[in-house]
Amino acid sequence: MTDTILITGGAGFIGRYVARACLERGHRVRVLDSLIEQVHGDKTQADRLDPDVEVVVGDVRDETAVLKALKGATKVVHLAAEVGVGQSMYAVDRYVSVNDYGTAVLFQQLIDNPVERVVVASSMSIYGEGLYRDADGRIMEDVVRVPRTREDDPWDPLDAQGRALVPVPTLEWKKPALASVYALSKYVQERLTLTLCPAYGMKGVALRLWNAYGPGQALSNPYTGVLAIFASRLHNGQPPMIFEDGQQRRDFVHVEDVAQAFVLALEHEKAPGGVFNVGSGVDRTVSEVAELLAGAMNRPIAPEIAGKARIGDIRHCIADISKIQQELGYRPKKDFSEGLAELAEWVAHQEAKDLVQEARKELEARGLVA
Ligand code: UD1
Repeated sequence: MTDTILITGGAGFIGRYVARACLERGHRVRVLDSLIEQVHGDKTQADRLDPDVEVVVGDVRDETAVLKALKGATKVVHLAAEVGVGQSMYAVDRYVSVNDYGTAVLFQQLIDNPVERVVVASSMSIYGEGLYRDADGRIMEDVVRVPRTREDDPWDPLDAQGRALVPVPTLEWKKPALASVYALSKYVQERLTLTLCPAYGMKGVALRLWNAYGPGQALSNPYTGVLAIFASRLHNGQPPMIFEDGQQRRDFVHVEDVAQAFVLALEHEKAPGGVFNVGSGVDRTVSEVAELLAGAMNRPIAPEIAGKARIGDIRHCIADISKIQQELGYRPKKDFSEGLAELAEWVAHQEAKDLVQEARKELEARGLVA
């Protein structure tokens, strides 16, 4: 069946790939996007969007713009959000306003103009620290990071006896542990969707995304994902700046695989009501990805290790993707080295303003790097 899919935040990095994937499936696509400067620079045009996409320029908090964008829509993908964990810890009003009030305005309009399905981009950040295994083989769910007080304190969380805990893939049943304003705001988005959809005869789905990367990620936004930040630094001949000791683990998932997950969430009969992890299923340290990216870009510049943590960051969270694989048939296709080679090739032809030092100073001035 052909749908008219509204993608909020659809001119953004992930949105453009979701839009393309939906068009390829034969759907009509409309995008609502405010084209904010931090992400889009001073461009007022939604360039890089497929010409077949209809664009409504407007803020998700503006009910008139939302109403206009919803006209005739049969499904919604809700991506409009502020995305920086570090920045969320000082731009609190903006993050709560865009992410939570924005979702509230969207649903206020959906109550009178319901669609069949709403898929919301939630985040792995809602888990806080992921699942860990202790020295006796027990799975630990409530691990929290204790702030380091001495230089030689370990970065990794320890159990009550001071023994090292080992990160293991995190499953959807893990209780949320909201360590940043960003995480809190994403959890609110997720819950608003899963609470309001069934109340008004709509089907809600939440995708908990891990670290998306790929060509097209905003290179001049110092609060974007770490791979785009590192790419921008290397492109400008600067060392990537690594927080902590670089051994923190994440799952880097190619944006085309993220788009695949959105299509499944929009179409699959088993998706409604569900929350699904979206990752690649392979975890890596931040140092490792810095090194691999420098290699792919042919810029052999050693990273700078800050030895300080960004307040609000979690240490390790890695993805268990078996639920989305088994229930929706998700298959991540992009091999990491192939993805990095593509990213490097794209970056080589881009201009990237390096604003990372300014962003770090901003966090430091507020005591948010310690
Ligand atoms: C990212 C996304 C978030 C998404 C989540 C899902 C961004 C800005 N954030 O959060 O929207 O919901 O993934 O997993 O895309 N780091 C450095 N140096 C830097 C920047 C970051 O070492 O210059 C480190 C961070 O301290 C952290 C890791 O890299 O340990 C990942 O950071 P980041 O890319 O901001 O991702 P998340 O916080 O995981």
